[in-house]
Amino acid sequence: MELLALILIVFTLSITILAFRRRSDRSTKLPPGSFGWPVVGETIQFLFGKPEKFVGDRMKKYSSDIFKTKILGEKTAVICGPNAHKFLFTNEHKYFIAFRPHPMQYLFRSYQTKAVAAPLAPRDDTKVLRQPGFLKPEALIRFLDKMDSITQQQLQAHWEGKDVVKAYPLAKTLTLTLACRFFLGMDKPDRIARLVQYFDDITVGMHSIMLNIPGTIFYRANKAAAAIRMELLSVIKEKKDAMASGDKMQDILSHMLVIADPSGKFMPEAEIADKMMGLLVAGYSTVATTITFLMKYVGLNPDVYQNIRAEQMEIAASKNPGELLEWEDMQKMKYSWNAICETMRMVPPLQGTFREVLTEFSYAGYTVPKGWKVYWTVSTTNMNPEYFRDPQKFDPSRYDESEAPAPYTYVPFGGGPRTCPGKEYARLAILAFVHNVVKYYKWEVMDPHEKVNGDMMPTPEKAKTTTKTIFTTATATQFAHKKVVKKIESKRTDFDRSDLLREI
Ligand code: HEM
Repeated sequence: MELLALILIVFTLSITILAFRRRSDRSTKLPPGSFGWPVVGETIQFLFGKPEKFVGDRMKKYSSDIFKTKILGEKTAVICGPNAHKFLFTNEHKYFIAFRPHPMQYLFRSYQTKAVAAPLAPRDDTKVLRQPGFLKPEALIRFLDKMDSITQQQLQAHWEGKDVVKAYPLAKTLTLTLACRFFLGMDKPDRIARLVQYFDDITVGMHSIMLNIPGTIFYRANKAAAAIRMELLSVIKEKKDAMASGDKMQDILSHMLVIADPSGKFMPEAEIADKMMGLLVAGYSTVATTITFLMKYVGLNPDVYQNIRAEQMEIAASKNPGELLEWEDMQKMKYSWNAICETMRMVPPLQGTFREVLTEFSYAGYTVPKGWKVYWTVSTTNMNPEYFRDPQKFDPSRYDESEAPAPYTYVPFGGGPRTCPGKEYARLAILAFVHNVVKYYKWEVMDPHEKVNGDMMPTPEKAKTTTKTIFTTATATQFAHKKVVKKIESKRTDFDRSDLLREI
C-alpha cells in the first residue's frame, strides 16, 4: 500500500515537473532568427544594407511578427507590423524603456563617463523638453512668423536665380538655421554653416561601429561632437552674459539655464550642451531629409505640384501683402500635409528606434527576455501592399479622411508616450517651406533615379561623392534640380492669384 502510494506520489510529481518544464520551455521560446557572427552579430548587414531589406528578408525567412538578431552589440528582438507597433506604444514603462544604441550614448553623454557609456539610467531623458511645452503648438505659434521669414530669406539667398540647385545641402542649412534660432536663440549664418558639417558627421556616426580610430565613421563623429560641444559651451557663455545684462530670452537653451531640480541644483553646462546637441541633431536632419525628398516627389509629379500650389495660392490670396503665415493658415494646408506624409512613407526620415526590455514579455508566441533590446521600424508597414495599395506610387490622396491608413500602419513619428516631441515643429517648418517654394518656384528633378543610401537616415547617394566643396562633409549633396529657381513671380506681394496659376 505504502509502495503504491509512493509510486503514485513520484508519478504525480514527475508529471507535474514535466508539465511545468514544458510550460516554462514554451514560455521561454525565443523568437526565431540568428545572432549572426561572433561579436559583430548582424551589425554589418543592418548598417550597410537597405534597412527595409534587412527587416523584410528576415520577416520572410523567420516570422512576419518577430525575429531575433544581434545588432550594435545587443541581442535584439525586431517586432514587426501594426500589431507590434500597438503593443510597443501601449506598453511603454510596463515592458520597455528607451534605449539609445551605444554609439549614440557615447556621443551624447560623454559628461557622464569617459569610458564607453553605460546603458542609460531609466530616467526620461526628454522630460526636460516635453515638460515646459516648448514644442507644443501654443509655444510654436509664437515662432511661426519667424519660421516663415527665415524660410523666405533662405530661399532668396540660396535658391533664387540659379539654374541648378542642390536641394539637400540647402535644406540642411535652412533647417539648421531654424533650429539654431528656435532652440538656441542664435542667428549667425557663418557659425551655422560651420556647424552643418559637424552635425552630418554625428548623424551618420550615431548608428556606426564603435571603432574610435582615425578614418572611421565613429572617429569622425566623435571629433564632430567635441567641436559642437565647444561651440555650444561658448553659446551658453554668451547667453549667460546676455541674460545677466537683462536681455529677454525665449529659447529652449535659456530655459535650461535657469531651471533647477527640486534640490535647487542647476543643470551642468556640459549636460545642457549635450542635450542641446541631441535636440539639434533630432530636429534638423529629419526635417531636411523630408524637404529634400518632397522636392523630388513633387518635382516628378506635376499633378501633385498643381494641387499643392492651388491650395497654397488660395491661402496666399487670403492674406494682406507682406503678412506672414499664421496658425489658421497652417490648418488649411491639408493637401500639402498629405504630400509631406506620403514623402515620409516613401523615404522615412527615421527608420525606427530601440527600447530596452524591463520585464520579460511574450509576443506572438515568443518570449523576449529582460535586458534584451527591442527594435521597431516603419519599414515593416510603409511599403506593404496589405496596408498601402500600390505602395510604390506617390499618392497623397491615400491620406484623405475617407481613406486614412489603418491604425498603427503609418507611424513616421512613432506613437504612445514616446511619440516624437518635435512632430508639430516639423509639420510647421516643412509646411512653411512648401508654402514659399510653390508660391514662387517650379522645378524639375535632374536625376529621378539618384540612389538613396540605405543607412538609418536616408541620404541621396551623390552626396557621398561630390560634396567636399560645399560643406566639406561626407554627406552634403543632393537632388540637383534643373531650373528649380525658375521664378514664377518676381514681386512677393500684390499679385493676382489667377495670373500666377495661368503662368505655370
Ligand atoms: C520629419 C521630421 C521628424 C520625424 C519623422 C521624426 C521621427 C521621430 C521618431 C520615429 C522618433 C522615435 C519615437 C520612438 O522612439 O518611439 C522620434 C523621437 C524624437 N524626436 Fe523626432 N522626428 C522628426 C522631427 C523632430 C524634430 C523637429 C525634433 C525637435 C524639435 C525632434 C525631436 C525628437 C526627440 C527629442 C526624440 C526622442 C524622444 C524620446 O526618446 O522620448 N524630432 N522622432
